[in-house]
Amino acid sequence: MKTIKLNDNTFWVGKIDNRDVPFHRLTLTKGTTYNSYLIKTEKPTIIDTVDFAFGKEYVDNLEQIIDLMEIRYIVINHSEPDHSGGLRALASKAKNAVIVCTEPAVYELKEMYKLHDREFLTVRTGDTLDIGGKTLEFYVTPYLHTEETMVTYCDEDRTLYSCDIFSTHIANENYFADMTDEDILEDFKVYYQLIMHPHRLYVQDMVKIISKLDIKVIAPSHGYIFRENAKNYINLYDEMSKDTPTNKKGLVLYSSLTGNTKKISQEIKKIYDAHLIDIDIIDVNKVAIEDIKKAIEVATIIFFGTSSKYADMVGTLEDLLKELPNINLDNKIGVAFGSFGWSGEPIEIVQDYLIKSGVKTLNTSEVIKTTGMIDVKFPIRVRFSLNDNNRHEFDRALNYTIDLVTGL
Ligand code: FEO
Repeated sequence: MKTIKLNDNTFWVGKIDNRDVPFHRLTLTKGTTYNSYLIKTEKPTIIDTVDFAFGKEYVDNLEQIIDLMEIRYIVINHSEPDHSGGLRALASKAKNAVIVCTEPAVYELKEMYKLHDREFLTVRTGDTLDIGGKTLEFYVTPYLHTEETMVTYCDEDRTLYSCDIFSTHIANENYFADMTDEDILEDFKVYYQLIMHPHRLYVQDMVKIISKLDIKVIAPSHGYIFRENAKNYINLYDEMSKDTPTNKKGLVLYSSLTGNTKKISQEIKKIYDAHLIDIDIIDVNKVAIEDIKKAIEVATIIFFGTSSKYADMVGTLEDLLKELPNINLDNKIGVAFGSFGWSGEPIEIVQDYLIKSGVKTLNTSEVIKTTGMIDVKFPIRVRFSLNDNNRHEFDRALNYTIDLVTGL
């Protein structure tokens, strides 16, 4: 088996996939690699595996260089099957191995690979694991690009096993970025745009965390391994994920019964202000409809919010919604939101009005299909008021709209 030495006692044991690889409704015409790593310490540890299609081949190859019963830990940074796909085959032979992952990943891995009887070690940011001669540190990186993802850092080797982050989809035979004459930046940036940029606010969080580490080598799960200038690649992610100045404008139109929908409107404005996006907020009951129309004309994204009363909208919002077909809504985004107590029918009715008006109306199905995010939901429904239980979902939806607006 071909093994590539990465550090002392550390080897690349992955798979180069030269096919046209179907992935997220795209075709990776340059193929890809599934970078799995073996750290052969006193407690031998595997970092990530390979795609599901190559599980048996992977384990057969691995058996040539290590007795699989010696493996003590299998670290799975990300549940998606191009990383964890070899786990079932590996776990069936590495019977002494504990599977190391984040808490959300435990359920996914148990269900995907029927590992209900296996021992799992759940880790959180800052947790460390002594693997007998080397120390691993774990840092959760939620939504990069799915909820359960994390990265693993080997302190002694100053190596970051970064999973999808810093990856490139290319079936390179050179393994290391410093071994190729190719300009890899284009592939690096395309990967970032496709996989990471929809979650760029989380990229910023991740950059802050890993900037505290003394990283010499970045060993991602796909494509090139970076042994030189690791800091440059981190800086690129930082730059590409930063807020960019935009002249796009937001508008919040609301009609509130007890003040909950008004407070949600104010929270929307607060979040937009924090991202330096100009946004106005209007109580539709207090402003003439002609003036509201003028505000809509100059806005890129318009939030329409209502409280619920006896399953209906409150105030004059519906009068405005009936006018929408008479307003030019080309290239504008509409978002329905509101507070509700029981079922929140009026929020759905606002959504129906938006769809009929022809404005690009944000909806959950489209978000799932285009980004894979399952916790970003539209319309934005807030039961009574924002609190610790619903705040995360609200912030996720707002962050999504900010990415949309700044990306236009
Ligand atoms: Fe490389 Fe998220 O899969």
